[in-house]
Amino acid sequence: MADNEEKLNVDQDVPENDDAENTELDTAEPTDGDYTGAGEMSFTDETDSAEGELIPEDMEIIDADVPETEDEGEESDGESENDAQDGGENVHTDEEVARRRKRIVGAGGKKGKKGKVVKILVSILLIIAVLLGIVGITAIIDSNRLEKTFYQVKSNKVTSNIRIVCLSDMHLKEFGKDNEYLVHEVDKLSPDIIALVGDMNMEDQPDNYGAVLNLCLKLNEIAPVYYSLGNHEIDAILFSKSNIYKDIKAAGIKIMNNETDTVTINGTTIDIIGLTQNPTEFERYGKAFFDKAMSATDNFKLVLNHYPEQFFGTLDDYNIDLALAGHAHGGQVRLPWIGGLYSADQGFFPKLCDGYHEIGNSRLLITRGLGKSGLVPRIFNKPEIMVVDIGWY
Ligand SMILES: [Fe+2]
Repeated sequence: MADNEEKLNVDQDVPENDDAENTELDTAEPTDGDYTGAGEMSFTDETDSAEGELIPEDMEIIDADVPETEDEGEESDGESENDAQDGGENVHTDEEVARRRKRIVGAGGKKGKKGKVVKILVSILLIIAVLLGIVGITAIIDSNRLEKTFYQVKSNKVTSNIRIVCLSDMHLKEFGKDNEYLVHEVDKLSPDIIALVGDMNMEDQPDNYGAVLNLCLKLNEIAPVYYSLGNHEIDAILFSKSNIYKDIKAAGIKIMNNETDTVTINGTTIDIIGLTQNPTEFERYGKAFFDKAMSATDNFKLVLNHYPEQFFGTLDDYNIDLALAGHAHGGQVRLPWIGGLYSADQGFFPKLCDGYHEIGNSRLLITRGLGKSGLVPRIFNKPEIMVVDIGWY
């Protein structure tokens, strides 16, 4: 009976739900024959086995509703409340399933939209790549094709027709082996004279002008060649001691550096004037020569000058029957319906980069030339053979 009374006292001393006293019990030495409740009371942080026995019922419900995923976690409060209202049971109603399905479908829709945008971007990039490829292939093919353009110029200073073939800006490019194709095309045109208006070489290759000399010799068999120097020839001669002028002149070609030649063609006498100064040096080095050449006779004046930019003020007041120029490469890239894109001395959308112009009392024809000197390819800009017929009617 005494034992029973003692046991009863102990049981009464043990609190059922007081944490502070649990701590005391945990740290206290258990005694034989004493209660075994210390192990049972460690439920607060511990094991599943403990909670089954001592966690109150309402806590069980909260544990059961802990969501497994983030999305579910965001809405777990509401669900827990609902569940609590439902009497603590984790109920998956049809409504909830439908809501979750909707959520999944929504997520798939966002991914679908992103995928669509990526597909559209890839398609656009592919189209751009294909277009660039077409432009690139066209540029390569075109750069080896020769386009002939024909012009007619009337003058009462001539009594017969005179055909001039004008070439420019070859920059060492060759059309066929040893320019066979170019020479053949020029030959078919039966010119009376052939005018080269500069930049047939490359200034950074001062000794590499064999192709130019060879072309001059072949063309000279077709008709007399008149070769007026451009900036590439002048720079190679002045700054790199190139012998291009000396060697081509020695070969019997009329290579002209501020020089004039009076020649009779088909019964008409004309003055061919090779002016080599650029516009900024014209006053200092070119004007005296040019004034004299222009006033020497009343003959038809054919001026071969590399720079069309001379007609932005320098040569505008002269009465030039016909000037032939190059230099601007037709604007290098030709835009449909617009024309040349860029030239070094005129910038974007150059005004004087190709074709026929009347400026004051002068007429100017500009060839797009044959080659290129920079990195930018000629695009939609075939190499040009310019053909000019001067006639009295
Ligand atoms: Fe050039």
